[in-house]
Amino acid sequence: MFFIEWGSSIKVDNRASIQQDPPHNYGCDKRVEEQSLVPATMPQWTLGIETTAHTLSFGLVDADGTPYPAASDTLRPDEGGIHPREAADHHKDVASELFAKVLDTNNLTPSDIGAVAYSQGPGLGPCLRVGAAIARGLATKMDAPLIGVNHCVAHIEIGRQQCGCDDPILLYVSGGNTQVIARLQGRYRVLGETLDIGIGNMLDKFARNQGIPFPGGPKIEQLANQYLERTPEPSMEGLQLPYAVRGMDLAFSGLLTAAQRLVDNGAPLDAVCWSLQEHAFASCVEVAERAMAHTGKSELLLGGGVACNQRIRTMCEEMATDREGASFAPPRMYCIDNGTMIALLGYIELNHRTTELQGSAIDQYLRTDQTPIVWS
Ligand code: ATP
Ligand code: FE2
Repeated sequence: MFFIEWGSSIKVDNRASIQQDPPHNYGCDKRVEEQSLVPATMPQWTLGIETTAHTLSFGLVDADGTPYPAASDTLRPDEGGIHPREAADHHKDVASELFAKVLDTNNLTPSDIGAVAYSQGPGLGPCLRVGAAIARGLATKMDAPLIGVNHCVAHIEIGRQQCGCDDPILLYVSGGNTQVIARLQGRYRVLGETLDIGIGNMLDKFARNQGIPFPGGPKIEQLANQYLERTPEPSMEGLQLPYAVRGMDLAFSGLLTAAQRLVDNGAPLDAVCWSLQEHAFASCVEVAERAMAHTGKSELLLGGGVACNQRIRTMCEEMATDREGASFAPPRMYCIDNGTMIALLGYIELNHRTTELQGSAIDQYLRTDQTPIVWS
């Protein structure tokens, strides 16, 4: 089903698992009830493997749960979007080198790894399967506990750990996901989310239509800043776009089409990038504010790749300050997909459960609120 050649190269053959993935089921996990399988403090390092989409990343937390920067490699196609199979092939090709790199950087050997965590979902099936196969192989080889974790929850927990906030409303803005989340009754509940595409995918698609390669978000931010530099008093006159709030939910495909139409009709690209950011980010911040008002929570935490953007960070800070609350955003290396957040969530969850091999299949459609939150 999968094999790893120890030493120079990691080889993954996950064809059998492609046909055999059963539905995700936490019942397959070995729950730690009376006696903890894993000590409260792991004696060794926890490895985290992230492969939900275009990025393969290995990250680490130490025996105290302290995070260390990840070794990552992202597939950047010359043209077009990401093909899941091509991304999976990329992950297989670079896995061995990256794994060696994360160990070397931290002066570790494989025997220092005491547990292996991996993204079990949600994400692109072929990519997730590569990560799961690597994790199973490493855990088996090292006789270490294996733990499959929820990628969305990992974005949240690295943010809480890095920012030291307690009980925030989460604004999770990435390529594939746009969700406003609150911790309520033992789950991270999704209070509002996109009804069509993720905000990052919308930015990437708009950029791609202008010939800007993936990831488009950083370039759009740069162009928007360029527009502001040459336009000291910017106005929405002639740059209006649809506003995408639907109750507590959001929608971005209409915004994408309308922004494209502005460019087609001759509006300067940098001006449209500015307007696109203003509209898209304001809609997210509005839903986040409503979530804070309804739940009575005073903290806001940003996560996901789009949280790298300074404009959305500033908007969140202004909104939270107006409400006499506070807004937090983790360092950018922990906003984008990274193995360290997977290692951290694995470290936290290992006090409560491990994942047996027969329950280790990936779940492309795993939801944020499917994971019981049993830690503080
Ligand atoms: P998920 O699986 O959580 O949906 P993802 O696969 O989209 O994650 P991330 O690394 O979380 O991966 O996010 C990538 C997205 O972040 C891309 O859409 C990219 O354009 C966007 N992004 C990165 N930097 C910026 C930025 N400075 N401004 C806006 N968007 C950005
Ligand atoms: Fe992500």
